Amino acid sequence: MAVPGLAPISELYVSSESAQKLKHEAGAMPSWDLSPRQLCDLELLMNGGFHPLKGFLTEADYDGVVESMRLADGSLWPMPITLDVPEEFAAKVEPGQDIALRDAEGVILAILSVTDKWIPDKVREAEKVFGADDLAHPAVNYLHNRAGKVYLGGPVTGIQQPVHYDFKARRDTPNELRAYFRKVGWTKVVAFQTRNPLHRAHQELTFRAAREAQANLLIHPVVGMTKPGDVDHFTRVRCYEAVLDKYPAATTHMSLLNLAMRMAGPREAVWHGLIRRNHGVTHFIVGRDHAGPGKNSQGKDFYGPYDAQELFKQHQAEIGVTMVDFKHMVYVQEKAQYFPANEVPEGCTVLDISGTELRRRLREGLEIPEWFSFPEVVQQLRRTSPPRDKQGFTVFFTGLSGSGKSTIANALMVKLMEMGGRPVTLLDGDVVRKHLSSELGFSKEHRDLNIKRIGYVASEITKNGGIAICAPIAPYTATRRAVREMIEAFGAFVEVHVATSVEECERRDRKGLYKLAREGKIKEFTGISDPYEVPEKPELRVETEGTDVDACAHQVILKLESMGLIRA
Ligand code: PPS
Repeated sequence: MAVPGLAPISELYVSSESAQKLKHEAGAMPSWDLSPRQLCDLELLMNGGFHPLKGFLTEADYDGVVESMRLADGSLWPMPITLDVPEEFAAKVEPGQDIALRDAEGVILAILSVTDKWIPDKVREAEKVFGADDLAHPAVNYLHNRAGKVYLGGPVTGIQQPVHYDFKARRDTPNELRAYFRKVGWTKVVAFQTRNPLHRAHQELTFRAAREAQANLLIHPVVGMTKPGDVDHFTRVRCYEAVLDKYPAATTHMSLLNLAMRMAGPREAVWHGLIRRNHGVTHFIVGRDHAGPGKNSQGKDFYGPYDAQELFKQHQAEIGVTMVDFKHMVYVQEKAQYFPANEVPEGCTVLDISGTELRRRLREGLEIPEWFSFPEVVQQLRRTSPPRDKQGFTVFFTGLSGSGKSTIANALMVKLMEMGGRPVTLLDGDVVRKHLSSELGFSKEHRDLNIKRIGYVASEITKNGGIAICAPIAPYTATRRAVREMIEAFGAFVEVHVATSVEECERRDRKGLYKLAREGKIKEFTGISDPYEVPEKPELRVETEGTDVDACAHQVILKLESMGLIRA
């Protein structure tokens, strides 16, 4: 049932005295630590964002939602809001029992009175809700690979709101937004949902939508969970803040929505509409491919480009929100103005930059024209994804003891410091063993631990824009791969195999260790009595026999240059 006008919407919170009492009682209940997605869902359940839901779906509601987008009482609801848990936890809970729902720090946020416990048919859920049981869909992947096997359902009693430390003043509950609209006298409000930074085309289309609907504008970006790979919400909100003054303050408001999106296209559009209605909005912009998940495993779109608009229109009256068509806006060069793509004057030149092209330009530090975006937005985006030659990276030398790793690493460090621009840290094998891993020996287990510690420090350096040079033996392929994965989350990983043969290392025997190893005085010595797995595909292999240190270090510099990590 829709709440008429801007009257307050019902929340699931209890009074602060009851909350205190319940919190105390909940200490003795079985407790469930909510996943990030469940935490987002719980917040919108409790604050009325998911009205008319009173808790996580029961089995009957779930079946109705999956099959026909309706709760058991017939109300329209397109998205299963379920509490998934693993079998081990489910085994400890029976219907009739209460469980405490906690955030990641263990704070009790709510109590779930479990009425239902069942094992869902996830293939059916994937096909009916997301259109295909295809792991290329982020929500289907989540369903099969992250969500627990069992669902628990039942009403939720809210104890306290999840805590947010970021952008507090920009977050509003449905009732806070309703109260704001009442206060400023806005009776018609068009909402714009987004998970991307706002560029000029978005500004044009939101202006047009507001004008068409003769309504005020609510920019309502999602800051919960969006599509994997999106620009993080911290950067996006800074981008939104940077362009807010380009909107007339008296008619535009921005508020952040802590929603965990599912990228479910048409069903998602209907869901977004209901959520916006609960936030006191009267109109909602739905565009081409609204909340689209990208391509399926066959390289085709999951949904038709206008499926979301059609489904929304079918249910518009019941949603209680009027759809405003999202026009794809393009820039017309001769007119120096934006036009809807289907209204471009004949013979004119249309300019457009796709999302992929924008990311390429950001990555390579290329120009982003002013007709496309606002300099303030581009500046924020460049801060978060600087070009490769401004990002952090790790050079990881591997090779036998005495192969020349440390010497070349030192030469490389000096050359990079001479160039300047980024801080350089050398994590040499011997130095690390003295400061980070002094208690470790040379068993496989200890070597792995040592390398993972080096990898962790290097990944932190890389994340923060520095250059880490590592020079351990790192004899095992699997451990080197694990380190690569840790680093590549933040920047480039350049593996350099210093391919000096064991015979040559032993001939040089700069530390006298090979002699001791041969005599059995040092056990588990790499290359003599312990394995060294030669890297199969390092970014670079350097031969030191017959090449001096300076030339070896220069080969690394050339490699870094060819990868775009440094500029000549
Ligand atoms: S590992 O395998 O990556 O954890 O080794 P690392 O931390 O690089 O340490 C290698 C240095 O320790 C000295 N050393 C040994 N190396 C190999 N095997 C055994 N058993 C051993 N015992 C001591 C040796 O001097 C290595 O230094 P480098 O700089 O590689 O010559």
